[in-house]
Amino acid sequence: MTEDVFAPPIGEWYHPSEELLKAAHVQDYDEVYRRSMEDVEAFWAERAESLLEWYEKWDQVLDASQAPFYKWFVGGKINIVHNALDRHTKTWRRNKLAIIWEGEDGDKRTMSYWRLWQEVNKFANVLKSMGVRRGDRVTIYMGRIPEIIVAMLACAKIGAVHSVVYGGFSEQALATRIEDAQSRVLVTADGSWLRGKIVPLKDVVDEAIHRSPVVDTVIVVKRTGQNVNMVQGRDYWYHDLMALPIASRQCPTEVMDAEDPLFILYTSGTTGKPKGVLHTHGGYQVQVSATLQWCFDLKEEDRYWCAADPGWITGHSYIVYGPLILGATSILYEGAPNFPYPDRWWRIVEEYGVTILYTAPTAIRGLMRFGEAWPNRRDLSTLRLLGSVGEPINPEAWRWYYTAIGKERCPIIDTWWQTETGAFMIAPMPSVSLKPGSATRPFPGIKVDVVREDGTSCATGEDGDLVIQAPWPSMLRTVYGDPQRYVDQYWTKYAKFGWYLAGDTARKDEDGYIWVIGRNDDVIKVSGYRLGTAEVESGLVSHPSVAEAAVIGVPDEVRGNVIYAYCILRNGYAPSLALADQLKAHIRHEVGPIAVPEKIEFVDVLPKTRSGKIMRRVLKARAMGLPEGDTSTLEE
Ligand code: WT7
Repeated sequence: MTEDVFAPPIGEWYHPSEELLKAAHVQDYDEVYRRSMEDVEAFWAERAESLLEWYEKWDQVLDASQAPFYKWFVGGKINIVHNALDRHTKTWRRNKLAIIWEGEDGDKRTMSYWRLWQEVNKFANVLKSMGVRRGDRVTIYMGRIPEIIVAMLACAKIGAVHSVVYGGFSEQALATRIEDAQSRVLVTADGSWLRGKIVPLKDVVDEAIHRSPVVDTVIVVKRTGQNVNMVQGRDYWYHDLMALPIASRQCPTEVMDAEDPLFILYTSGTTGKPKGVLHTHGGYQVQVSATLQWCFDLKEEDRYWCAADPGWITGHSYIVYGPLILGATSILYEGAPNFPYPDRWWRIVEEYGVTILYTAPTAIRGLMRFGEAWPNRRDLSTLRLLGSVGEPINPEAWRWYYTAIGKERCPIIDTWWQTETGAFMIAPMPSVSLKPGSATRPFPGIKVDVVREDGTSCATGEDGDLVIQAPWPSMLRTVYGDPQRYVDQYWTKYAKFGWYLAGDTARKDEDGYIWVIGRNDDVIKVSGYRLGTAEVESGLVSHPSVAEAAVIGVPDEVRGNVIYAYCILRNGYAPSLALADQLKAHIRHEVGPIAVPEKIEFVDVLPKTRSGKIMRRVLKARAMGLPEGDTSTLEE
């Protein structure tokens, strides 16, 4: 069963305007796609050469000899920070704004490429002075402030591997990720503003380190200024360190192999333990910059705003690395979309003259609830292109985005991809006509299909597994520390064909457009965030009252899905509303606010297969009042 909320296809067409098409980077998608398929390696090699500077060129574009452990641009020498910063400081772009930042409380800062480069150099030197070396993992746990970008780039510059943990995660989630990455150094902030309140990041860090004592150095950015506990000999203020002579403005960029690790980003999967998705310096930057340039048609004069969080892959690829590689000006906003009023985002678009806005359906649905009057009071005429990501966009939200925000001038670029894919895989560009709810066609160089279990291609309109049929440059290279899991999870189901299993159910229509329906594994998308059922379940059973738990995703109009939890209590505990509230608070504290169940039900038994697996499908059918389907494997 999928997490489907809305029934696609509806068969409406939207064609690009002449004006947009005439100026676009790619005029004829079909032709470019066709040519890319004639020689996929040559296609990517051309992109790698024209978008990026290499210290040394590669010997081989793709090495498939140890598939599925593919290697790209083998022998190539590069560093992503060279392309994102260093090279711009040698041209007029040094004067261009890299980041325009606005805090939720109204604080404002801008950084030119020159200034950002200096900050990164200084902080890279600070990290080195703390003993961080090439290959070491550094955990970053912050809100949406410029220093999160500085910290990521500083790591990459010296060849360290960053592991950013989203600032909305709580103690246990952070502790698990610190432990798995074995990070000695952690960069955080005293707090972050969200909905007028301070998120106490540093308190969470203290508790996480208590649980995972691998960290010996914590660097704290002062953002909110409230009192925080600083541990002598372990915790240092960022501004103190940046004022030391050691924080020199000169720092050489480490020459990396194209296949050297750049970052680990944890994401949810079918088991409780989050997967450390590993990306590398070379192929990743090729595909991230190529997709951003063509799909969003990014130009020098754009003011680009990806409203995601740098702590997710969307932020890594399309707030931090992609826009900087292309020399763009980006907006970064710290807080909630509706604080203090529901026009906060639209005011930002007006004030900074945003031309491209990239966000998620859940955010659009959330803002749609407040009505059109809010965007109508703001001048949104600078917008020329709108992006969507994270889950299928329902046609109703699509049309609102298109009319109320884009004023029927802006194409909606619906981008399908994953933490694992690193960059867009299925997404239109201005020369592709749109159908609301479909991410349309694959990017050039990308081969995808919707298939049946036996590997045959599905017919038009038939549901099947979305597979990627050839390796791509920004693919994950492994699951950090667990290569077997990498093979099992993604490459085993269609091993015979060498295809990658995305974990999504999809269908194709008569025009070859792909419609992604939703996840078909134990992953739930809540407000576009990816949560594993097992993560929430283990959070629940870590409470003394819970013996066993099962969670499911149930469709919700704004959030896409919400979580329902079913708990069996231990002896001596009785079901009560107060206990349900306690469990919610427990999940908020252990896993994070996004994982808090909408509803908790106390039960005596859970539906299980004879082999003991919880049948979430049955729970979901019951919750939604639908037929239970095939229950032949259900234990009596
Ligand atoms: C899953 C990946 C990639 C950045 C954000 C999410 C769903 C993502 C779309 C889209 C339909 C989408 C899929 C995918 N998804 N984009 N445009 N249309 N579904 O990354 O957290 O790794 O989640 O998000 O189910 O497998 P992620």
